[in-house]
Amino acid sequence: MTTTLVDNIGLLVTNDPTNGAGDGSVLGVVHDAAMVVDGSLVVWAGQRAAAPDADGRLDLEAQTVVPGFVDSHTHLIFAADRADEFVARMAGTPYAAGGIESTVGAMRAASDSALRANARRLLGEMTTSGTTTMEIKGGYGLTVADEARGQFLAAEVTTESTYLGAHVVPAEYRDRRDDYVDLVTGSMLDACAPNARWIDVFCDRGAFDVDEARVILRAGIAKGLLPRLHGHQLSRTGAVQLGVELDAASVDHCNHLDDSDVEALAGSNTVATVLPGADFSTRSAYADARRLVDAGVVVAIATDCNPGSSYTTSLPFCIAVAVRDMHLTPAEALWSATAGGARALRRHDIGVLAAGKRADFAVIGAPSYVHLAYRPGVPLVTATWRSGHRVDHVQGV
Ligand code: NIG
Ligand code: FE
Repeated sequence: MTTTLVDNIGLLVTNDPTNGAGDGSVLGVVHDAAMVVDGSLVVWAGQRAAAPDADGRLDLEAQTVVPGFVDSHTHLIFAADRADEFVARMAGTPYAAGGIESTVGAMRAASDSALRANARRLLGEMTTSGTTTMEIKGGYGLTVADEARGQFLAAEVTTESTYLGAHVVPAEYRDRRDDYVDLVTGSMLDACAPNARWIDVFCDRGAFDVDEARVILRAGIAKGLLPRLHGHQLSRTGAVQLGVELDAASVDHCNHLDDSDVEALAGSNTVATVLPGADFSTRSAYADARRLVDAGVVVAIATDCNPGSSYTTSLPFCIAVAVRDMHLTPAEALWSATAGGARALRRHDIGVLAAGKRADFAVIGAPSYVHLAYRPGVPLVTATWRSGHRVDHVQGV
């Protein structure tokens, strides 16, 4: 294998506290740094003066390098947008789970090729903004055939694909919810499980309650899927306690938490994923990420990219909002969008730049990662590398 010295990195964030200034900072920051990449992996990271020889050399001209962003929550398989709904929300109409229905209609009517083209367009946006791993959920089909094709399309482009038949109860089942839960735990699960790693439930007002969510997640677990949850976005339902009970990898949104929820998360392996784009675009009170971090909860930041509540693919934007409005420090927000996302996906091979980890990184055209929040809305990512290759214009993982 040919090795490459990625040289002249002005500031390298490794997320490896054993590296860097030795100050124990969780980001493991190294100034005047270099990395050696061998095939898909990092084999060395540290100060450039100590770099070993390599076959080739790439000069990054003193730019910043951070681990590739890990977007642990997206809904990329959909058709059409809901710009009108956004306009109405900005004029005062509150966000409600019911808006999902309009995307369900559009997705059912769309061809596979239209859905694939839309997802790839969004994946392209993500890649150019520095994201190297993305989770993708279904949840806009809500029939066996439509969820199965959504799941197939998600699995074409990521290993982190999630079955979300339990997004909302579709109109045709409104008066017979139990039948829909039977479908989601029966033939729909059978059709989707081969193309899914995860099972998710929207456990909130207007969607599924905790008892329904427990039944659905247990059925998925019995099929070999790993649980995660949407919870506490619109109301305090008990989804956090359920997530902890089932050892869910993550409970996502977390806007309405009481002390017992925060305590339960802090004492668990369940990550709290906050979604700044959703709170921004629904004009909701921001999830209290500061309180979660202070309590010792592992926090991830994801985009929640979907046409209803959060039509952004940009983790740099979400980092900026998390700093400005969720009161995380720039260092905490960066960690949450990289190593935190990896934890929310139970991945140990990504989110860190150290020997043996995947060579997934974003090059930032600025003197520091702080500029991701300090210069909001500016496209600072100049290159994205996944598995040791530059991929700014390659779509999918
Ligand atoms: O995570 N909250 C549930 N699902 C999505 C929104 C989906 C939609 O409004 O289309 C979310 O925000
Ligand atoms: Fe979501």
